[in-house]
Amino acid sequence: MLAGSRVLLGVTGGIACYKSVDLCSRLRKAGAEVRVVMTESATRFVSALTFQSISGNPVATDLFATPAQSAVEHIWLAEWGSVAVVAPATADILGKLAHGIADDYLSTVLLAFAGPALLVPAMNRLMYAHPAVRASLAALEGMGYAVLPAEYGHLAEGVSGWGRMPEPPAIVERLQALVAEGRAPRPGLPPPAPRDLAGVGVVITAGPTQEPIDPVRFISNPSSGKTGWSLAEAARERGAEVTLVAGPVAMADPPGVRVVRVRTAVEMAEAALVAYEACEVAICAAAVSDFRPAAAAPEKIKKGAQDGLELHLVRNPDILAAMGERKGRRVLVGFAAEAGAGPEEAERKRAAKGADLVVYNDVRRPGLGFGADDNAVVVVGAGGLREALGPMPKRELAHRILDRVVMLRRGQ
Ligand code: CTP
Repeated sequence: MLAGSRVLLGVTGGIACYKSVDLCSRLRKAGAEVRVVMTESATRFVSALTFQSISGNPVATDLFATPAQSAVEHIWLAEWGSVAVVAPATADILGKLAHGIADDYLSTVLLAFAGPALLVPAMNRLMYAHPAVRASLAALEGMGYAVLPAEYGHLAEGVSGWGRMPEPPAIVERLQALVAEGRAPRPGLPPPAPRDLAGVGVVITAGPTQEPIDPVRFISNPSSGKTGWSLAEAARERGAEVTLVAGPVAMADPPGVRVVRVRTAVEMAEAALVAYEACEVAICAAAVSDFRPAAAAPEKIKKGAQDGLELHLVRNPDILAAMGERKGRRVLVGFAAEAGAGPEEAERKRAAKGADLVVYNDVRRPGLGFGADDNAVVVVGAGGLREALGPMPKRELAHRILDRVVMLRRGQ
């Protein structure tokens, strides 16, 4: 997908810029030609010579150095590139770009560049949370820039927080998607997702759970996790700080989301309830096994001469109900996958578990629900709310559900 692309790689001065050397090398391996533009402070972390060797092209740093290509080299570079990526993007470059300031090589090239551009912020967690940085990111997304949000993790200052640069493979993947999409900063584009969950902590449970019977067998269900993944990505697009507590599913971690992988319902309950403490929104999209074997056999169960086998099952914790008990001012959303019962069953579950909304779907409808990319649901809420949505892609559905969450947060 990147083969034949001409990538402008902007590198600004953050500790994460050592990772950009790897990014540059991966871009070349993916078949792209790469030209690097570094800010002055980036050259304090990594030398221009390193990027020159890895990219195989001269590195631009000084706006007023003797131009190598033409008298207005920054414009030449902006026209040369077919796609741009700035990684790491410091608060400084985001602020400049959001306000049209061009006072060094990189900011000048970026302002003159009209193709698709990906910004990968990375900085101190307190800086990343600052309203000015949030506003720059929101404004840039509004202009059509793609943003790959910073991740949660260990930061250079020795603590964990949101601000870490995603790993180079995730950046390459996002850039490939952007090239495929061709979205560029120019007017007339469909509006990006609203940033109405900026800085809001959201915990989402997703996928099935596995309840071991013995070391090689378990009780589970065919949940793919796609609904939870779609919700996590949609919430992240709207600026939320998302923790996704996921049972065993085949999907890779969505970028920009903190993912906690678990296996059993008990593990899921533990992880989800810890995250819940610091969250303002919780969405239980997991298909949790209601029961588990009372004790998993330590060794593989042999059939021997037995005609049958009885398993003694015990109840698993109900995560949604536990969250409902300590809901406070949070917005709490559950799902009800039913095979026969109507939305009134979802309303019963909503009231019983103390949720604000329950998303009802009929799992018997062919091509929808479990494992599918599309779904049709009814959002059930207090006061007789019944909103039928779909069939539509799960990602779009996720945004419609989040619209409801935002309305509830605003007291509507
Ligand atoms: N749920 C949960 N923990 C459980 C069981 C369910 O958090 N142990 C959540 C699901 O994630 C979903 C909602 O509760 O958001 C409803 O799940 P569902 O399986 O439809 O309902 P149950 O309460 O398990 O009722 P039943 O199986 O009797 O239909």
